Amino acid sequence: MTPGDRPAGERPTALVTGASRGIGRACAVELAAAGHHVVLNFRERRDAAEETLAAVRAAGGDGELLGFDVTDGEAAKAALEALFERRPRIDVLVNNAGVVADGLFATMSSGDWHRVLATSLGGFYHVTKPVVRRMIRHHRGSIVTVASVSGLVGNRGQANYAAAKAGLIGATRALAAEVARLGIRVNAVAPGPIATDMIKDAPLEQLVALIPMGRIGRPEEVARVVRFLCSEDASYVTGQVLGVNGGMA
Ligand code: NAI
Repeated sequence: MTPGDRPAGERPTALVTGASRGIGRACAVELAAAGHHVVLNFRERRDAAEETLAAVRAAGGDGELLGFDVTDGEAAKAALEALFERRPRIDVLVNNAGVVADGLFATMSSGDWHRVLATSLGGFYHVTKPVVRRMIRHHRGSIVTVASVSGLVGNRGQANYAAAKAGLIGATRALAAEVARLGIRVNAVAPGPIATDMIKDAPLEQLVALIPMGRIGRPEEVARVVRFLCSEDASYVTGQVLGVNGGMA
């Protein structure tokens, strides 16, 4: 039986952070189409998260909203504990929330350094720790973290972001080794430039020149790889970083 064949009440649960738009929204829709009940984390934009929920329902799935800031450990704990009361088993976690604050390192403010790390690495800690503890209890689960090609090759002007994303890759590999025997898989994707709000002010022509496939990616192209990694089709895949970047790395 595939997840999609299950009655609504028995669907596996997937939590997606930063699901109000962009890659997070696309992941939510893909996972809903694959039959998951999707829990949509958002920070401020409830209206945008509602739009994601509408897209999830249009894909034949269902879900719910869960508002909290992933950099706030106390807020994450309270929201997740309330979620576990309603949904004791979390089958899939997609750590997607992320921010950029680009600038040359020599002039980078402390605020820009810490904000980017707090979102990616703090968010990973605050969300993954409670969720993986539930997964350990149920001996089942798949975690996918959205890293970046920047964490593999280190883009100019992104020392903070590259550090955060490389850190996520290290955390992914270490956690994968810790929980592999407990039925839990932990992987990452490393997208190249993807058409979302995050790169709307970036010099697109310069970016495209760096991409062997010669084009920017689409959120759905990342989401389909995330869905694969979350699925039973990837049952022997853990501790991996899958590039989704048109051949950049
Ligand atoms: P986006 O800016 O459209 O979406 C980011 C999402 O994260 C938003 O929903 C935002 O509200 C959420 N978020 C940010 N801080 C948060 C916080 N403290 N708590 C809760 N949610 C928070 O950008 P996009 O492109 O959809 O980014 C998604 C992920 O993909 C990020 O981790 C990003 O670093 C990564 N990525 C994006 C690439 C791109 O070119 N667009 C390339 C490689 C990785």
